[in-house]
Amino acid sequence: AAAVWRDLRGRPLRDLRISVTDRCNFRCTYCMPRDVFGVDYPFMAHSDMLSFEEMARLAALFVAHGVEKIRITGGEPLMRRHVENLIALLAPLRTPDGRPVDLTLTTNGSMLVNKAQLLKDAGLQRISVSLDALDDARFAQMSDAGTPVRKVLDGIEAAARAGLDPIKINMVVRRGRNDDQILPMARYFRGSGHILRFIEFMDVGATNGWIMDEVVPGQELVDMICAEHPLEPVAANHYGEVAERWRYVDGAGEIGVITSVSHAFCGSCTRMRLSPEGKLYLCLFADQGFDIREPLRAGVSDAELADMLAGVWGGRLDNYSERRGQEGMAERKRIEMSYIGG
Ligand code: GTP
Ligand code: 5AD
Ligand code: SF4
Ligand code: SF4
Repeated sequence: AAAVWRDLRGRPLRDLRISVTDRCNFRCTYCMPRDVFGVDYPFMAHSDMLSFEEMARLAALFVAHGVEKIRITGGEPLMRRHVENLIALLAPLRTPDGRPVDLTLTTNGSMLVNKAQLLKDAGLQRISVSLDALDDARFAQMSDAGTPVRKVLDGIEAAARAGLDPIKINMVVRRGRNDDQILPMARYFRGSGHILRFIEFMDVGATNGWIMDEVVPGQELVDMICAEHPLEPVAANHYGEVAERWRYVDGAGEIGVITSVSHAFCGSCTRMRLSPEGKLYLCLFADQGFDIREPLRAGVSDAELADMLAGVWGGRLDNYSERRGQEGMAERKRIEMSYIGG
């Protein structure tokens, strides 16, 4: 079998995150603030975006060289027309030792009711749904969109019925904005079989007005929930898992905390990100990507493409979260989350 690609710190490439569109029907204040992403924002032209066939060709090369998990993101991936056709191209991929790839997707859930079964039938294994509040008014403040919470909850239920499990619910927490929703969300999803994960508000991009005061550290979150229902730590599922896992002592399921601010996890970061227009990014906080669309469209062979991908990963040193707060870091240019996905 082909060798696994490693970066300059010895980190293996295990996860590929494919962003299929930079558009979204929400305007979450921490991701796509409406005053920046307004009606005349220049979103990508369709012809600039990779086709599903191009994405699948790259994905196959990655999987041949160690990638075991592929996540489809956006923007909102369900806004890309017939995204289930991409799933169908990726689902048959097998690791060199014959295992299926862990194929999943991150969505805001607003269009999931109509899509869950189609996605499952195309070969999607599981799904993660973002939801920042249970209360409609709070949710509207966070998402700056007209979608009621019920619509997202219906989407989650449709995904469960379709067998897209385990389902993960991702809640970004901002102090003073939606921290009053932490306990209601924990109570709602306790015992549901779904895994609620709390994400520390991050300084991705340059438009979301990030301040440290709005970060609720993961430990504080865990203490808060633990005071109501005791929790105990659970070991990681796999090397480099992003979320720290906790389970309710009474057996009502598990939660996770993603502490990229209070406790960086760059040391085991195995993720490469592919943008909709075919740029490779080595970090969520990168200032530039490596264009792979041009060689792809110029007709290079698979072997040549693989060499290029190996070269990009092989030169990697990225570790932004470990260096946040150091001099000059805050001023660096950064790509937007809506462009590269979570
Ligand atoms: P699974 O646990 O396998 O479902 O995947 P995951 O833990 O990678 O989860 P997911 O992709 O849903 O990530 C959840 C959130 O964690 C993202 O939306 C980001 O906010 C954050 N996150 C994921 N990967 C990274 C990373 O490499 N660096 C940083 N700083 N944050 C990340
Ligand atoms: N901080 C933390 N998480 C974020 N996400 C988007 N922007 C941020 C941010 N600034 C999360 C969303 C979603 C995923 C796509 O990324 O909530 O779960
Ligand atoms: Fe859209 Fe997700 Fe960004 Fe919210 S966080 S604006 S749902 S891409
Ligand atoms: Fe990986 Fe960059 Fe996130 Fe660190 S900050 S975990 S290197 S994506």
